[in-house]
Amino acid sequence: MSELMSSPIKIWLTGATSGIGYALAQALLDEGHHLVVTGRNQDALDELASKAKDQVTTAPADTTSRDDLAVVRGQLQQLEPLQLAILNAGTCEYLDVAEYSSDVIEKNIVTNVIGTARSVEAVLPSLRAARAKGLPARLVIVSSSAWWFPFGRAEGYGASKAALTYFAHSLRADLAAEGIGVTVVSPGFVKTPLTDRNDFPMPFLISAEDAADRIVKGLKKDRAEIRFPKRFTWMLRCFGALPQPLIDRMAASMAGNQNRKQEEKE
Ligand SMILES: NC(=O)c1ccc[n+]([C@@H]2O[C@H](COP(=O)([O-])OP(=O)(O)OC[C@H]3O[C@@H](n4cnc5c(N)ncnc54)[C@H](OP(=O)(O)O)[C@@H]3O)[C@@H](O)[C@H]2O)c1
Repeated sequence: MSELMSSPIKIWLTGATSGIGYALAQALLDEGHHLVVTGRNQDALDELASKAKDQVTTAPADTTSRDDLAVVRGQLQQLEPLQLAILNAGTCEYLDVAEYSSDVIEKNIVTNVIGTARSVEAVLPSLRAARAKGLPARLVIVSSSAWWFPFGRAEGYGASKAALTYFAHSLRADLAAEGIGVTVVSPGFVKTPLTDRNDFPMPFLISAEDAADRIVKGLKKDRAEIRFPKRFTWMLRCFGALPQPLIDRMAASMAGNQNRKQEEKE
């Protein structure tokens, strides 16, 4: 088991109010860790705190807001040593190409990329302080496997997660000398309020609790990459390795089918 997770530590978790983050909060609380939980939904944060008063600090914030995160930064500092940050807050907005709007692209990028980058700014001093005390420290960035294949309507979401993954990998290179690990989590389809809105088939869909369990297991093994479910992520990686013209044909055919089904519904 990783030295980091072998005994209870303090962890900052964003996107703790719903879906994967909520399930992750439950799993980490069960293991005795102290959580600083962030999201915009105060009621959901309070509910988490009511479950384990001594183990939860609520830190409400819109992770795209520098002002909100400045307050959270102070809270994290108060709680040091803080050794693990799981930056999971994210959104998924689909593009309707018939009504093309760059707003959709912007919303995905602002929440998923800029929000995460700002969250790193808020927590990095605490992780560095942990390292200065000789403690292990790790940053976890929840990306997605969706960008490995050009799915129709996912222009904004896929672009944001591709950018986020590059950001995380580059950060991993820069932080290696300081001994701060960077883990990228790349889930397939997980049943959450985010995917409950999807009106297309979601192969190998797993529960949020299953996703949380796989993330915790990966972190306990100090994994730099946590990808699941394996059958889905392998399939996507194989598709992604095909020659581009073949990928383009498959993607156009899938997008066409999807758009036809959508029109039939309307
Ligand atoms: N579900 C999947 O199939 C899937 C697959 C791959 C990757 N992911 C990624 O996993 C992460 C969690 O997704 P989920 O499926 O669990 O979605 P979800 O149920 O919609 O949860 C999203 C979480 O992010 C928080 N959030 C969103 N925007 C925020 C903002 N501006 N400031 C602060 N918090 C914000 C939400 O909190 P508030 O509403 O309280 O602000 C909520 O706690 C996301 O990064 C998503 O891209 C999900």
